[in-house]
This record gives sequence, C-alpha cells and structure tokens, in this order.
Amino acid sequence: MAVQQRIVLGVSGGIAAYKAASLLRLLKEAGHHVDVVPTANALRFVGRPTWEALSGRPVTEDVFDAVDTVNHVRLGQEADLVVVAPATADLLAKAAAGIADSLLANTLLASRAPVVMAPAMHTEMWEHPATRANVATLRARGVTVIEPASGRLTGRDSGPGRLPEPQELFDAVQALLNGPGTTPAPGGPAPDATGARPLEGRTVVVSTGGTREPLDPVRYLGNRSSGKQGIAVARAALAAGAAVRLVAAHLEAPVPEGVELSHGRTAVELREAVRAACEGADVLVMAAAVADFRPAEYAAAKIKKKDDGGAPVIELVRNPDILAGLVADRAAGASGLPGLIVGFAAETGDAEGSVLDHARAKLLRKGCELLAVNEVGEELAFGQDVNTVTVLAADGSAPRRLEGTKDQVGEGLVAVIAERLNR
Ligand code: CTP
Repeated sequence: MAVQQRIVLGVSGGIAAYKAASLLRLLKEAGHHVDVVPTANALRFVGRPTWEALSGRPVTEDVFDAVDTVNHVRLGQEADLVVVAPATADLLAKAAAGIADSLLANTLLASRAPVVMAPAMHTEMWEHPATRANVATLRARGVTVIEPASGRLTGRDSGPGRLPEPQELFDAVQALLNGPGTTPAPGGPAPDATGARPLEGRTVVVSTGGTREPLDPVRYLGNRSSGKQGIAVARAALAAGAAVRLVAAHLEAPVPEGVELSHGRTAVELREAVRAACEGADVLVMAAAVADFRPAEYAAAKIKKKDDGGAPVIELVRNPDILAGLVADRAAGASGLPGLIVGFAAETGDAEGSVLDHARAKLLRKGCELLAVNEVGEELAFGQDVNTVTVLAADGSAPRRLEGTKDQVGEGLVAVIAERLNR
C-alpha cells in the first residue's frame, strides 16, 4: 500500500546532482509529494526546469521567494522526511553548525522530521577530520548519514565519495518512512507503525540488565547496564504481537506489563534462567550485560579491613559465555532452542580495527545469527537520548543501521527479526 508522504529533496552543489533527478523520479513514482530545494550551486549543475518538471512543483533556492507563505520554515515544518542528495562537505558543515544561509539550510533547521543525508565528494574531503567530525555530530543528533559508495570520482581519482545509486537512496528513504524506528511508541504496547502484528504467534525471549557477582554479603562486581535497551526490545516485541519472556538481571527501568518475567542475578543464574525461557521459543535476544568474571570465592561474612593496612587481593574466574554456549548446544543438536539468536555488543574502534571490524569478529566468535552493535565512544555523546545500532548478519545480508531513541531502536530490531522469521 503506497502512502503519500511529504518529502523535501535537498540538492547541494556537486556534480552528483544529476543522480538526484533519478531519485526524484523514483519518489514521485512511489506517489510522494516532493518539494525540491536546491542550493544556488546545485542549480549550476542541474537547472530549475528539470526539478520543476519532474516534481510538478515550483522550485526556488532563494529564502526571499514566496515570502508570503513563510517558505523558509514552512517546507521543513510540513515535511515527513528531508533527504539531501548529494550532500556536499560544505552542506554537511553548515548543517552541523546550524548555519542558515540558504533555503535548504533554513529548511533543515526548521524541520523536526527524520533527515537522510547522502554525502558525495572527493575522498580527501570525505576523510578530512572536519568532515568526519561534522558527520559524527549529525549522526549523534539522529541524522541518517549514508556512507558514500567507493569507485570512480569525477576527476582521475577513485575511492570513497561517490553518491550511491538512486535506487539505494530511494530504499533508504522508504525504509525510514515505513520502517519501525521512525515512529516513537507513546507509552505502552500498541501495534507497530503499520498497524500490523508481524510477531503474532511467536515467542521472543529477551535477557536484559546487568549481572552482579557477589563477593561477600554486602559487595558485588557489577556493571552500569540499566536494561533499558532490552526492555525497549521487549516492548516492541509485545507491540508486534509476540509472547515475550523477559529474563532480568539487575534493572534500572520498569518491567513492561504483559511479559512473562524470570530472574538471573549472576551470570550462572542468568544462564539457567535463559535456558529455561528458551524452551520452544522462536527468538532469543541477548541484551543482558553479562559479567565476564566473578570472584573465585564468595566470603560468607563481610570481608574486614586488616590491622596491617593491607588490602585483600581478589581472585577472579571466568564466567560462562551464555550466548556462545547456547549456540554451541544448538549446533550439537540440543532441542527446543530458538532458531534465531541475536547478540548485542558495545564496541569502540581502536588501532586494530573499526567498530564494525571488531563487531564482525565478535559475530563469528559468538556464532549467532544477528549481532546488534552499539557504537560507543567520544564522538557519539553519552547521555543523549539517541542510540546508533548496526545490525550485522552472519549470512552476509547487508548491515542495517538503526538510529533514534532506545524505543525506536527496539522497534527497528524487532522489524528486522520479524522480517527474518517471516521470509
Ligand atoms: N554474553 C554472554 N555471556 C557472557 C558475556 C557476554 O552471553 N559471559 C553475551 C551478551 O549478552 C551479548 C554478547 O554476548 O549479547 C556480547 O557481549 P560482550 O560483552 O560485547 O562480549 P564479550 O564476549 O564479553 O566480548 P569482549 O571480550 O569484547 O568484552
């Protein structure tokens, strides 16, 4: 079912502007209402008549045209989505800084709709620290910045910087318009954005929260996990019609109504609780932050300070890897385990590889079908209500990027799960 949406197609001044004309055609063919907002430089590459003929709408780059309609804020306010293709280094910099020196830049500032930007530029410009920082700022604000394709650029050079093909851009726009993850679920469970219940009749197990490994009756080794992302997944699965079994370690967020709740405070307890919950389930989502180590010994009485001023040395032992263990048991033929197992990982890039390099290695190590990778690090500000998760698939399907609040990421992940179960 085609749903007409109001889209602003921003075009900034790069030679790839000609590809935006094909994107415009695809958007129009899909039945959308599209206002094209080029920059003055974009019009040097592709002229106004092309945009007006293809969109069927008047086109201007000038803030002082159509002033009676307060055009410079109206377009952004009314849009369901803004897509900028191509986005030049200059446009990215202006958007990151909040500069409003063109109709397109004003539209971006005035809009609260999802924004997709498709950068296109020479490799040196794309890789310049200024551009990297601008892209990171935009992503941290929730803008979907599509990675440019690699290949032949305009001069003799080649490398990353090409505008992806129009069909790919169109797919990204459609995914954001239709896909869960763009419509925040207000309050409790409700059918997903399309009103469908794609997990009806399915059972989903979600483990979440942080484990606590006791040292003595008053102390433990723990972690900062709040459990909120897993709870968001559980809520989205309920909304999609699933029966949800929530296996909780330590939580700092309320348990949604309607789940079947069990507990596992330590890694060993959690393993048993997850195994029991998995019986006959279709999917396991391992969102729990499981301690990799626990104190080798539990002191039955509180460990006291010594008179000699010394401090105890605490020996740690490895905890079981719940996720890898379940995958191994399933491979060994254990019955009743879910066919779809989803791991979570929080990764940073380092000298040895990017976030995705580390994540791919983890996906192989764990052996699960999907790995939801949370990019953490200085560039993506902590404490903001936006999360960026890339879902990697062991079968080599294209990675899926989910951005937004934890609820939106939860909905996006459930949509990916439903797609796999139902195909
Ligand atoms: N996990 C698990 N059991 C453990 C540790 C982790 O089941 N003992 C699961 C988590 O729930 C998550 C996934 O494995 O779904 C990845 O967790 P992470 O802490 O990133 O993995 P580790 O194996 O601990 O990797 P690292 O050495 O990078 O910390």
